[in-house]
Amino acid sequence: MRPLIAGNWKMHGLTEDSAALARGIRHGLGDLSPEVLVCPPFTQIAAVAAILEGSGIAVGGQDCHARRLGPHTGEVSAAMLRDLGAAYVILGHSERRADQGETDALVAAKVEAAVAAGLIPIVCVGETAAERAAGEQEAVVGGQLAGSLGAEFAGVVAYEPIWAIGTGKVPTIADIASMHAFIRAELVRAQPEGAGIRILYGGSVKPGNAAEILTVAEVGGALVGGASLVAEDFLGIIRAC
Ligand code: PGA
Repeated sequence: MRPLIAGNWKMHGLTEDSAALARGIRHGLGDLSPEVLVCPPFTQIAAVAAILEGSGIAVGGQDCHARRLGPHTGEVSAAMLRDLGAAYVILGHSERRADQGETDALVAAKVEAAVAAGLIPIVCVGETAAERAAGEQEAVVGGQLAGSLGAEFAGVVAYEPIWAIGTGKVPTIADIASMHAFIRAELVRAQPEGAGIRILYGGSVKPGNAAEILTVAEVGGALVGGASLVAEDFLGIIRAC
């Protein structure tokens, strides 16, 4: 399977910045071979999808609501994302688990909604620094996988240690390898399609460390935050594949 390099733009980008970033990625990509995805804020999805049309670069959302429709002021459904041209949606990012109090059960409900609308969910899991210091990382991530994916998951999992997000700190290659092997084993044990589920690494991926991280066994790509906001940095990560 080709690696998937996904950019999470988070809450960054007005119309001009987003358009320039999307054009920069499109023009710089050339015939590079990984699968590439960008996840702009809701407000920029339609414009970015239009700029990227025909490029092979996919577009995704950063969240969706668990319900199909209804009286949920300010929310965005999975079908609305699909309608704008999104193919993927990031769910259960640690920032949402922390800021919006999203639970595993809510993430599982969102996964179901995303799949029902024809989106591929990217479910984020990962431990805090304190949990790793206490040696609890596998218990934490195992619990998140068990609670967030549902019974027949066919999307993407992103392992993002919370302490590595936006900090410039990255786990050792051995720690990435061991967590990805653990996640693979859990997926194979619990999911009918577990052997084929892509597992991304996320957390301070940069052009300078991407090549080493992307060659680790069971790392099927990267979920990139900060470095996805600069076209040359994001392209540098794509070139590292
Ligand atoms: P970062 O963010 O690359 O800025 O560490 C990753 C993420 O939160 O998906």
